[in-house]
Amino acid sequence: MRGVKIIGTGSALPSRTVTNDDMAQMVDTSDEWISTRTGIRSRRWCAEGESQHTLARDAARRALAAAGIAPDEVGVCLVATFTASAATPSTACLLQRDLGLPEDTLCFDLNAACAGFVFALHTAASLLAAEGPAALRPYALVVGAEELSRVMDMTDRTTCVLFGDGAGAAVLRADAAWPALTATWGSRGNDEALFAPGVGARDDAGALRPSYLTMDGRAVFRFATDVLPRATAEVLERAGVAAADVDRFIFHQANKRIVDVAVRKLGVPAERCQGNIDHTGNTSAASVPLLLDELVRTGALGPGARVVLAGFGAGLTWAACVTELAAPLGGAAEAQDSYGESD
Ligand code: COA
Repeated sequence: MRGVKIIGTGSALPSRTVTNDDMAQMVDTSDEWISTRTGIRSRRWCAEGESQHTLARDAARRALAAAGIAPDEVGVCLVATFTASAATPSTACLLQRDLGLPEDTLCFDLNAACAGFVFALHTAASLLAAEGPAALRPYALVVGAEELSRVMDMTDRTTCVLFGDGAGAAVLRADAAWPALTATWGSRGNDEALFAPGVGARDDAGALRPSYLTMDGRAVFRFATDVLPRATAEVLERAGVAAADVDRFIFHQANKRIVDVAVRKLGVPAERCQGNIDHTGNTSAASVPLLLDELVRTGALGPGARVVLAGFGAGLTWAACVTELAAPLGGAAEAQDSYGESD
């Protein structure tokens, strides 16, 4: 069995910034309503030439550069997403080509919506732990990438103000001397609370489903404020780690009010749970790795830090894990420049 740590992170945000005032030009809303109900002030949407695939590629390149490893050292490449640029080939397969990963790299996409990145991290860590070095090279590239602007109804003010596009990535390194990544997870089938279409999706009676994302906001809020603190407390207990020994809680950025409730229920300091939803909106599977990379880039987290990552969302799904960061976690010049541009 081999344990894992995160040794590199990267992210990519699309070039188009959409402020709350811009949203008020599109639907009957206001900066005041959006910012007080959600904490969001602006989000990024893909412009021409940008897509879920290009964001995933850019974030992955930056994470590999920050980890200081070559593509031919990667054994696993997973992409968490529910808005892949194509149903097939998977974005993970396209990354094999884009990055020049060896053909025997285990590449696949995984859909657990906004909990997807934590599901993927746990899957990659389990694969690295289960397979010895002879079968699997000891590095995994794990990406969360979404283009939610493609599946939103831009006339529905109850959903279109909430979501953004983006990608984040992390490189895991396996080492027999390191602790295992500890995780907890859950799934509860429900296509009423949060639904996003596949191509020509039909309901059980055969009727075509709407071609855009639909949501029962209040039901999702209740679900999220229950599972986020519960999964976090559960994973800390499973790992035998006290909340006080966690440097940062990196929670899925769906609504600042959901995080505020979790902070209250867990009794942890709010400054160790601070998010970035104000300038990203909800980027689903990308939100946890985007925030992780932002914290690494700005120096808030570095080698030796212990983090809890937690996500929840459509499915319904939820997951939390405890893991640590280790050197190199370098900042490639390209990554830092690009991060500066993004803000
Ligand atoms: N601008 C202005 N008014 C809006 C609005 C908008 N963008 N969206 C909804 N409203 C209105 C509603 O129509 C409603 O009006 P009414 O009282 O006249 O009927 C009023 O605001 C309150 O709506 P409500 O749905 O009760 O607001 P809320 O406080 O629950 O906030 C969400 C709505 C969506 C922000 C909140 O429920 C939420 O965050 N839910 C979780 C969503 C989520 O995280 N989804 C992704 C999970 S991964």
